[in-house]
Amino acid sequence: MHCKIAIDGPAGSGKTTVAKEIAKRLGIDYLDTGAMYRIVGLYLHNCGVSPDSTEEIEKTLSTVSIEYKDGKYYLNGKQVGDEIRTAEAGIYASRYGANPVVRKFLTKIQKEICATRSIVAEGRDIGTVVMPDAQVKIFLIASPEVRAKRRYEELKSKGLEVSYDELLKQIIERDKLDSSREIAPLVKAEDAIEIDSSNLSVEDVVQKILEIIKERC
Ligand code: C5P
Repeated sequence: MHCKIAIDGPAGSGKTTVAKEIAKRLGIDYLDTGAMYRIVGLYLHNCGVSPDSTEEIEKTLSTVSIEYKDGKYYLNGKQVGDEIRTAEAGIYASRYGANPVVRKFLTKIQKEICATRSIVAEGRDIGTVVMPDAQVKIFLIASPEVRAKRRYEELKSKGLEVSYDELLKQIIERDKLDSSREIAPLVKAEDAIEIDSSNLSVEDVVQKILEIIKERC
């Protein structure tokens, strides 16, 4: 039987680090659905398409292919790089991700990827929409201040000049967009287990989740 693990939560809650580590330890695939929203958001923005124009989005996406192979993402056959990791790409992901056409387009691809394998998938709507049948559903949270601090340290360690206040503002704005949208908002699945990582180390969170996986998979 395939073991499906859904990890949802707001930006900066530690989902990515934790999900990658769990996939590595279990030797199974890892899917970063946020990366897919970033790819599409950035692409639509670069094409000059308005986030509110469903018709234009539909027309543009009808010529777009997104693939996932060996942990890498491809847009129209070309491997995607770090250009999707900017704060702007995160904002485009949220804006375009609020459009139902974008969600339908990506949800279909994500469901297909997750159907055929054991996987750790992370995002905002994995436990509720993409893998409602997952054996393990985790809702990972942390306070906005802790999340902004983590992002700040991460970017600083990469040599990037950033302002903590600006990052906190961006996190609060993205939370608002992600929780208030009508379609697939960031909500905890009824059967998800909530973990607050504000005062926990990565290893603490990983261990907690591995224990739950041992019981259920
Ligand atoms: O996870 P990450 O911060 O890279 O995601 C970027 C944005 O993509 C999120 O703020 C959210 O608006 C959107 N997203 C989404 N549904 C997902 C994953 C990400 O709407 N499953």
